[in-house]
Order: sequence, then C-alpha cells, then structure tokens
Amino acid sequence: MTFFWSSWITILSIGCWLFILGVLLFVLKYRPDLEEDGTTGHTYDGIREYDKPLPKWWLVIFFGSIVWGVAYWVFFPAIFPSKWDGIATVEVDGETVPWTSHNELNSELESNNKVFTDNFEKNILAKADASGATSTLATLAEMQATMRRSENPPADLQTQIDQKVAELAPYVEKLSENPNALKVGSRLFLQNCSVCHGSNAKGAVGYPNLTDNDWLYGGAPENILTTLHNGRVGGMAAWRDQLGEEGIRAVSEYVLAISGNQEGYDLDETMVAQGKVIFNEPTNCVLCHGEDAKGMISTGAPNLTDDIWLYGGDRETIRETLRYGRAGVMPEWQTKLGNERIMLLAAYVYSLSDQKVQSDASPAMATTPNTNTAEAVEVSTN
Ligand code: HEC
Ligand code: HEC
Repeated sequence: MTFFWSSWITILSIGCWLFILGVLLFVLKYRPDLEEDGTTGHTYDGIREYDKPLPKWWLVIFFGSIVWGVAYWVFFPAIFPSKWDGIATVEVDGETVPWTSHNELNSELESNNKVFTDNFEKNILAKADASGATSTLATLAEMQATMRRSENPPADLQTQIDQKVAELAPYVEKLSENPNALKVGSRLFLQNCSVCHGSNAKGAVGYPNLTDNDWLYGGAPENILTTLHNGRVGGMAAWRDQLGEEGIRAVSEYVLAISGNQEGYDLDETMVAQGKVIFNEPTNCVLCHGEDAKGMISTGAPNLTDDIWLYGGDRETIRETLRYGRAGVMPEWQTKLGNERIMLLAAYVYSLSDQKVQSDASPAMATTPNTNTAEAVEVSTN
C-alpha cells in the first residue's frame, strides 16, 4: 500500500474514533440549567424535557466499542497499514502469515479445497484403485509450494515438478475407467474448458477437437497432464517475407496434395513440385512438421497428411495460415484448478478418444520392451 493511502486510512480511522469519543465526553460533561421542577424548561407540544443521566448499560456498550476500536487497530492492519501488519494471522500454504483480506480469502479457498481433495482421495482415488497417487500428489504439492515461495527457485525444480506430474499418468488411466471420476471430470470440463473446446469437446476453428485421435501434443495420459498443468503455445511464424507470395502458393499447393486434397481442387503439379522442395528444406517446414509431414508432439506442429484441420484445409485458409502464421494458446490450469482437478480432467479427456495411446509412465509399459512409444498406438478393445 502506498504511503498516501496508508495515511488516508490512518487519519480516517483515528479521526472518527476521536470524534465519537469527543461527542460522548461532551455530552457527559454538559450540564444544562434546570428549572425548579427539574426540567430544562423546554416544552414541545406540551411535552417537557428532563435532564436524565445516560443509561449505564448504554454507556458501557459505548465505551466498550471505543476500546474495541483500539483493539481492532492492534489486531488488524488499520493504523499505518504499510508499517503495522497487526497481530492477527491466518494459515496459507501451511505457513502463518499476517492477516489481510487477500490472505484470508486464500486461506478459505485452501480449506474449501481441502474438503475437495479429502473427498477426492476417499471417494474417487480409493474407489478407482488409485490410492497410490496420494503420496505422489503430496510430494508434488510440496515441490509446487517451494516453487511459489522461493524468489530464485533451483533451476531443475520445474523439471522435477514436470516429472512428478508425469508419474500421475498411470493413475489417470485408472480414473479414466471409473464412471464416478468421469462424471466429476465432465462437469469440470463444462465449467472450465467448454468455452473454447465446446461442450462436446469437439473443438472449433483454432481450438482442437479432443475426441479424435489426432493430437498436437500427444494423447497419452502424461502428455495430457503436461498440457493441462503448464498450458501450451502453438507457434508457427509467418512465412510471407521469407517465401514470398509465389512460395506461399507453391507450398500451399503441396500441403493440399499431401493432405489428400479433400476439396477436390485441380492441383497445379508444377507448384506442388516446387512446394515439395520448399517444404523439405531442412530449416523450413520439415523442421517442425517432420519428414513425413505427420507432425511432431515436441513442437505441437499438426499432422498435415490427415483430413483433420485446426484452422481449415481449403486452399485459401492454408495460404492464410502460411502468410500470417498461427499461434494458438492453451492456458495453464495448475494455478487455477490444482493437481487433483487436473487429474480428473485428464482422465475425462483421455476417455474421450477411442484409440488410447498407452502411457509411457505406466508400470505395465515399464516391464514390456520399449516399442518406440510415439508410434505405439494401441487400439483398446472396449
Ligand atoms: C482460452 C481457450 C481455451 C480454454 C479455456 C481451454 N483450452 Fe485447451 N486448448 C486451447 C487451444 C487454443 C489449444 C491448442 C494450442 C495450440 O494451438 O497449440 C488447446 C489445446 C488443448 C489440448 C491439447 C490437444 C492436442 O491435440 O494435443 C488439450 C488436451 C486441451 N486443450 C484440454 C483442455 C482442457 C481439459 C481445458 C479445461 C481445463 C482446456 N483445454 C481449456 C484453448 C483452450
Ligand atoms: C517452428 C515450427 C514450425 C515450422 C518451421 C512450420 N510450422 Fe506449420 N505449424 C507449426 C505449429 C506449432 C502449428 C500449429 C499452430 C497452432 O497451434 O496455433 C502449425 C500449423 C500449420 C498449419 C495449419 C494446420 C491446420 O490444421 O490448420 C499448416 C497448413 C502448416 N503449419 C504448414 C506449414 C508449412 C507449409 C510450413 C513451411 C513453410 C510450416 N508449417 C512450418 C509449426 C511450424
């Protein structure tokens, strides 16, 4: 708080307090001249005024509230709040901190959250045979608290946190088979995600469909967890300056060709051939979309050979994409929703796609020979 507002509040609170005290003392001291019959001599419509002492109970309450006011100043940051924190405290993040309305709100949110997480552990994790997640969640929460508190967090702390998040993957897989967990997950989805991805999770232009098996960042539980925890920023720069309009047209023609040309355009084969050369220059499109143009989850670059489009697969939209670039933003949810809700959401999202990509971190996978997991798409039988 600035010195100005701090002083303003101080003057206002002490000023009011002094004014009220002054009025009370004045009234107590004031002795009007009385007539012989004990009245002040004032009559209003035949009603005569006596001068009676203030009732004791009333005085006690009045003085009491004046003292109470002083106690308030001591307990709460009311007098020079920039200097005096008050002696009242609340618990936030397991730490005792001075009372502020902000800290109090956080403290209340935390205790509400505790009710949710207890319920999550008892009624969801336990019933989905996933209680093993509890200790991972506890360690994760500690690491995140350290991260929040320290000004200069250790360089590898974020990596460790990301690893811990990935360790939750096998439990997310279990939750994705539990109807109760999915019910809560779908509700959370409607509240938080449907604005962008649609209430049926089928997405919209620029917002990926989450029910197909086409993933920008991977559809295994640990990929989905990472997407939700940290958010994602898809980045493809504009190519207008580098390739020129001719280059853009050529490479768009090539993209149309490899994507199967669903719109049935008459393709200009010379441009397709030129586009192919541009596409495959090592620092151009292959860099992110890959040799086979099937996309890469490490760059978030989409598969260009399927009939699934984030922005649109007609000739003009592809040219637009290339001229001006694209940058879709998926917000991070860790701060807003916390680890438990993210697990439920990840389980729900994972349950939506029919071809499930097995989790890398799952114990079952760890014991089987590593089958180049990016390619290992297992078709579930249910
Ligand atoms: C403000 C809009 C917005 C909201 C809200 C939002 N998302 Fe997204 N989400 C996006 C965008 C945009 C992308 C694609 C990012 C990109 O283009 O690289 C995305 C990507 C994703 C992906 C990765 C898809 C893939 O193909 O790899 C998942 C999973 C996802 N979102 C789930 C969720 C869930 C679950 C929620 C709710 C907690 C949510 N999103 C809320 C905009 C949003
Ligand atoms: C730096 C990595 C990178 C390079 C290089 C790159 N792209 Fe992309 N591209 C992406 C990403 C990431 C997206 C998704 C953008 C988003 O999520 O908002 C994308 C999106 C696209 C799309 C939109 C697909 C859809 O589903 O709507 C097309 C088309 C495309 N790129 C073609 C190309 C071509 C052609 C080149 C070469 C001239 C190229 N890209 C170079 C990363 C790259």
